[in-house]
Amino acid sequence: MEVIEGKFYIDGEIRAASIGIEEGRIVKIGKNLTGDRIIRIEEGTVFPSMVDMHVHMREPGYAWKEDFESGTLSALHGGVTFVLDMPNTKPPVDSPENFRTKLKIASSKSYVDFGIAYLLHKKIDRSIAEEVTSFKIYMSETTNVDPVNYLMIPELIKDIKKNITVHAEFQECVQKSKKEGGNLLYHDMSRPETCEVMAVRYLGTVGGSGFHIAHVSSPDTVELSRIFGFTKEVTPHHLFLNRDMDLGSLGKVNPPLRSPFISERLRYLLSSGYIDVVASDHSPHTLEEKSDFKAAPSGLPGVETSLPLLFQAYKDSILTLDVLVKVAMERPGFLLGIPKGKIAPGYDADLSVIRLSDSRRIKSSDMHYKCGWTPFENMWGIFPRKVFIRGEMALDNFEETVEPGFGIYYKSNR
Ligand code: DOR
Ligand code: ZN
Repeated sequence: MEVIEGKFYIDGEIRAASIGIEEGRIVKIGKNLTGDRIIRIEEGTVFPSMVDMHVHMREPGYAWKEDFESGTLSALHGGVTFVLDMPNTKPPVDSPENFRTKLKIASSKSYVDFGIAYLLHKKIDRSIAEEVTSFKIYMSETTNVDPVNYLMIPELIKDIKKNITVHAEFQECVQKSKKEGGNLLYHDMSRPETCEVMAVRYLGTVGGSGFHIAHVSSPDTVELSRIFGFTKEVTPHHLFLNRDMDLGSLGKVNPPLRSPFISERLRYLLSSGYIDVVASDHSPHTLEEKSDFKAAPSGLPGVETSLPLLFQAYKDSILTLDVLVKVAMERPGFLLGIPKGKIAPGYDADLSVIRLSDSRRIKSSDMHYKCGWTPFENMWGIFPRKVFIRGEMALDNFEETVEPGFGIYYKSNR
């Protein structure tokens, strides 16, 4: 047995403990455990690492924007040890063959553990449902993907027990709302909150409580989702950025950044426990692609800054640790049906060591993204100094200590 000693966040409190690890899993939590190897964490507190259930690592098909190596190295530096990759790649993950292609690429290049979401827009082969981590439905057009025919949704989701994440903007509403204009206010008006509300309202008529609503950008959607029993995620950009900031096309994303008032309401709903998950929706594009507002594709990078921004929000008294650990670690791990997100026996020893005095300004030049920029430039974040994946030290003193290919695939155990 290997042992890690230090101060841990366990069951809602920070306490001195030692945890015993066998084959990457936590097997024991106690005091002064003995083992074959003992690592003592002297500085900082040990938290579970983040489970980011919404990223676009862009492979196959768009590797000039990001690839599994650069994207998961960024994740590791941001305290994220599991990423769920979205299916809007080229080819899209909508056949067993395309699923296997992505699995092969990701397995050879990932620094952190990963899952693969399967695009649900046509009838699926039952055997593939066994293999995947989660499903994704796009109800509206967005970057590199066409909308589903929403009338097919009841049929498509039949018998699926795994997480079904929905990009909930209503296509007809998006089409009718289109406006010409070269700034974030226009982008907000051309995909208004009402489109999100309409989509979630439709999902409510489909019934069941199986949907997970991706990147909510409206307090009304949070409330409606609660009524329908859906889980919901919010992104750091909808929490900490808004359409009035001087971001230009770097802030162009779907669903759009809203007003400062709305992002404040989302922060309030998050801190009050009304939102289940924070996920990055890491969706990088190059600066060149982003150079002209109207032509720019929607999407922005974020996998490296999500957890640092959340710990900074805790330090700034915007969030409690209890909420932080639930939304960034425990709930996403649970929703995906993977043994991650908690420091408890039976879970992977995926840990991040955080010291609150490590706050520093977020700089594009420090990020590990291929695209070379972050929309959170100059904001404050607290980055992990050490990260463990399945008990192995993967980042030490802010430097990676594992190789690409270290990360392994997890399907959902549902
Ligand atoms: O802004 C977005 N970008 N929204 C999406 O739904 C897709 C994403 C992308 O893949 O770039
Ligand atoms: Zn996305």
